[in-house]
Amino acid sequence: MDSSVTMEKIVSLAKRRGFVFQSSEIYGGQSGAWDYGPMGVELKNRIQRFWWKEMTQLHDDIVGLDAAILMHPRVWEASGHVENFTDPLVDCKKCKQRFRADQIDQEKLAKKICPECGGELTDTRKFNLMFKTNIGPVDDGSGLLYLRPETAQGIYVNYKNIIQSNRMKIPFGIAQVGKAFRNEIVTKNFIFRTCEFEQMEMQYFVKPGEDEKFFTYWREQRWAYYQKLGVRMDKLRWHQHGPDELAHYAKDAYDIEYEFPMGFKELEGVHNRTNFDLTRHQQFSGKDLQYIDQENGNERYLPFIIETSAGLTRQLLMVLCDSYEDQKVADKGTDDDWRTVLHFHPTLAPITVAVLPLMKKDGLAELAQDIRQELKEEFATDYDQGGAIGRRYRRQDEVGTPFCVTVDYQTKEDGTVTVRFRDSMEQIRVPRAELETTLKQAIKDFKRA
Ligand code: GAP
Repeated sequence: MDSSVTMEKIVSLAKRRGFVFQSSEIYGGQSGAWDYGPMGVELKNRIQRFWWKEMTQLHDDIVGLDAAILMHPRVWEASGHVENFTDPLVDCKKCKQRFRADQIDQEKLAKKICPECGGELTDTRKFNLMFKTNIGPVDDGSGLLYLRPETAQGIYVNYKNIIQSNRMKIPFGIAQVGKAFRNEIVTKNFIFRTCEFEQMEMQYFVKPGEDEKFFTYWREQRWAYYQKLGVRMDKLRWHQHGPDELAHYAKDAYDIEYEFPMGFKELEGVHNRTNFDLTRHQQFSGKDLQYIDQENGNERYLPFIIETSAGLTRQLLMVLCDSYEDQKVADKGTDDDWRTVLHFHPTLAPITVAVLPLMKKDGLAELAQDIRQELKEEFATDYDQGGAIGRRYRRQDEVGTPFCVTVDYQTKEDGTVTVRFRDSMEQIRVPRAELETTLKQAIKDFKRA
């Protein structure tokens, strides 16, 4: 067996074990959209909670927001998205394929040669990535709305509400998780680039002149986050945007890139957005968006904004790739020599503890159910009594369950159970009464294998 991590293996496991399904699969699938199954939704929720705790609970000066997806259309004029949120697009007149002009061989582009079939390419034209929709019963353009392409704008238009309702003082941040939509021309690599996705964004408002200090601070914070998440840090690197890569709102920007099976790709961005957004919203709305610094003689200014912008669904793909391993565990020359294991951090694992009776008979199943019932309040549990115990361990390894608790005849005699650790496959015997504390300690002590 080949032990390399490929996108094909990730996609196959994701479907087989209920992490991610193709959207509308029975109709042939909808490109750019994916559905998260029982394991996927748990993993996604846990990544979101991990991020939310990191950004809000562990930072006293950051509060949360959940703004609507549908916003006033002027928001997107002010933000610059109507004018600037475009990709350069070319079509092949022969094979009808569509390409992003900045992502194909530039020599071929200059000669208008299709990189796939050698046919003739059209001129490059700008293509706006925002999805349009219509509010109200008449579709005559008067009810034009956009599906938000980033969650950030919901924060900017609410920043004064939040200062007033929560007595926030600069510097402070606002965090938000939610859906974003982009009419991406090329959606490939599974859930890496999709038309519907989720973002986890935090906007940090600072005094002009202090932006560079906080830009450095947030780069350090975001790097430390991935360390905590248990990611292999040698798979991460920084990439600073060159002048031609900078978004229309950014003065400086760094991406954290992860080495996916298809190479190093953007995972999250840290941006110095200056006071671009608030200046524009002040201009377009006619409302005074200046901050009044009461501690400094009512000094007024438009704050600068440092943004940390992570894709939740992209982070889920990263976590899957980072934790995936085809591991050789025996040498008998059969398929059983190998196991597929997801080395999730226990706080991210969809199932934390699986309770397995060695046999269904002799009261072991009832005893195991009873133990599961006890653990349910504290942990996400699963119960599995079907098939040989080795096969059941393998099934749990494949969805990244860090602990299996096995109930056997000895449990009936002396009240002890076996705890089996996913990564080391080590097994220890623990009295039932100490099970909860043992598991909690193991979660605290977890280190990536
Ligand atoms: N508010 C700033 C902003 O949206 P971005 O670099 O366009 O910046 C931030 O997007 C993050 O959102 C990216 O680093 C990526 O993780 C995620 N993202 C962007 N477009 C995506 C797409 N089409 N599919 C999945 N994730 C996407």
